Amino acid sequence: MHLDGGRRRGFFLTLEGPEGSGKSTQARRLAATLTAAGRRCVVTREPGGTALGEAVRQILLHSVELSPVPAADALLFNAARAQLVAEVIEPALWRGEVVICDRFADSTLAYQGYGAGQPLEALRSLQQLAVGDLTPDLTVLIDVPVEEGLARKDGGETTRFEERVEVAFHRRVREGFLALAAADPARFVVVDGLHTLDLVEAAVLRAAEPRLAAWDELRAVESRRGTTVPSALVSEPDRGSLRMKR
Ligand code: TYD
Repeated sequence: MHLDGGRRRGFFLTLEGPEGSGKSTQARRLAATLTAAGRRCVVTREPGGTALGEAVRQILLHSVELSPVPAADALLFNAARAQLVAEVIEPALWRGEVVICDRFADSTLAYQGYGAGQPLEALRSLQQLAVGDLTPDLTVLIDVPVEEGLARKDGGETTRFEERVEVAFHRRVREGFLALAAADPARFVVVDGLHTLDLVEAAVLRAAEPRLAAWDELRAVESRRGTTVPSALVSEPDRGSLRMKR
């Protein structure tokens, strides 16, 4: 839990996975369920979610003729991420909401790191610059075998990564995600994405519910101790001071 001494009150959940894992559908379903249960949710995606992020998304995913090298990809994904954190994620967390993000920093480690061979330590430094210490409270990795995932991606938006990159790249990405999950079992839950959408939805919910309940409990304790300022009294700091605190 990242309550930051009672200052930050929201819950940050990310969905990750290789191509065709069904994250976006699951993000929407989870938000609908949590909203129906009375929680305030924000759903967003990477790259994108802000005007700058959507412009960068066009370059990153569709401008094949620009041929960005992997280091340029890593910088651009992190540029979009920095903007998304500052404009959307941190403000929502300050308001005490649940933020559900379709891909986040682990995607850069998996795609540009494990997939494209950029050094993980350098990528982690970029991540630090882009988002500070902001870490998801829960990351659900929806895992699917590469061939299955790529085959599912008919229709919708076809990206540079699906069009141009070979299957071996996507295998490294998948293995990368699994390695990241194995290294941080407290944050990650791995869900088998080969099940039906309904079964995957139930598994995502099973992962989220106990953590949200623990988070509610922690907030209640902090509030009883007086370490959490009632939301009506909190004004969001300007972005500069927010960054300094992280
Ligand atoms: P998108 O259409 O959003 O695909 P998906 O539904 O699989 O999320 O395209 C995002 C693509 O960008 C996807 O191929 C993964 C890639 N990507 C990276 O390579 N690095 C990153 O840091 C992020 C966020 C995405």
